[in-house]
Amino acid sequence: MYLAKFPRVELATLPTALQPAPRFSKALGGKVNIWIKRDDNSGLTLGGNKARKLEFLLADALRQGCDTLITTGGPQSNHCRMTAGAAAKVGMQCHLVFSSSSFDLRQGNLLVDELLGAQLHWCDPAEVDDINKEMSKLANELQAQGRRPYIIPLGGSNSLGAMGYVYAVREFLQQADALGLQFASFVHASGSGGTQAGLLAGTLLNHLQTDVIGVSVSRPRENLEPRVGKICKLVLSLLNYELDPTEYVHVLDEFVGGGYGIPTPESKEALQLLAQTEGLIIDPVYTAKAVAGLIHEVRAGRWAEGSNVLFWHTGGSPALFADSIFWGGAGI
Ligand SMILES: Cc1ncc(COP(=O)(O)O)c(C=O)c1O
Repeated sequence: MYLAKFPRVELATLPTALQPAPRFSKALGGKVNIWIKRDDNSGLTLGGNKARKLEFLLADALRQGCDTLITTGGPQSNHCRMTAGAAAKVGMQCHLVFSSSSFDLRQGNLLVDELLGAQLHWCDPAEVDDINKEMSKLANELQAQGRRPYIIPLGGSNSLGAMGYVYAVREFLQQADALGLQFASFVHASGSGGTQAGLLAGTLLNHLQTDVIGVSVSRPRENLEPRVGKICKLVLSLLNYELDPTEYVHVLDEFVGGGYGIPTPESKEALQLLAQTEGLIIDPVYTAKAVAGLIHEVRAGRWAEGSNVLFWHTGGSPALFADSIFWGGAGI
């Protein structure tokens, strides 16, 4: 199989479940069948999409003889929490460089980071590039102390991380085939773009007629689409498939609202509706915006009656327990 040449460390509990959401579908008019891929239950350190990316990234780090992980995100980063969890699981040291001035409140993901023994660094960057410089500086310092650091970019979103989602599409296909189902679209939250790039690469490699619709949680479409396209092209090329995926990259950016982590009336409706129809918890920063987009598109009649649509649940619920982000707190 084309993925076999890329080593993986088993961090996740796979396959994650593929479940129907009948009461949620009915609440949206009952014409479209919504299914949910439960990567929120991916098994590693409270679950989420990063488990799949980290399987490939950690394998690379270990292959290079590294013993220390460095990565970045906001104080409520799910990616940081799961990287710290993965490091603990394989016995590596973990340093988290937060793109924020320091604060003392330990809630949600940040509480878990500390529990996992990660070392926390604070850097309020003027420019996005400053955080990369800060990680390199830290890597040099750690190297001088005799450690072997491995830097994981924001969100684990490079071609190797995205490979986790090529793998995920193969897993999904086995499940969908066993049920005899075809899906019109995947809908999911898109931030740093690696999940979307991997899902898209997976659908293209398998010649699926399924659109991948990334609902942006922060970036405007004109920024996120080229980013996803670039990572996707690199993943395809690593898998010896030369194709320009540009025309297949679809981002909806109308559901960001006031910005990253700032709730909208639609994201609150999404959280409450899924909770109250399916007993399913999503998160305020990522998946609530994605489900807001999904709800809007179902109501607007994007999909024909009887279509199956998959919401790919990428996790993130620990942020619900941070300074009431849901209600507009500043805990991100
Ligand atoms: C819960 C959750 N969903 C979706 C995403 C977006 O994934 P990506 O950064 O690969 O676009 C993230 C990223 O941190 C996340 O934590």
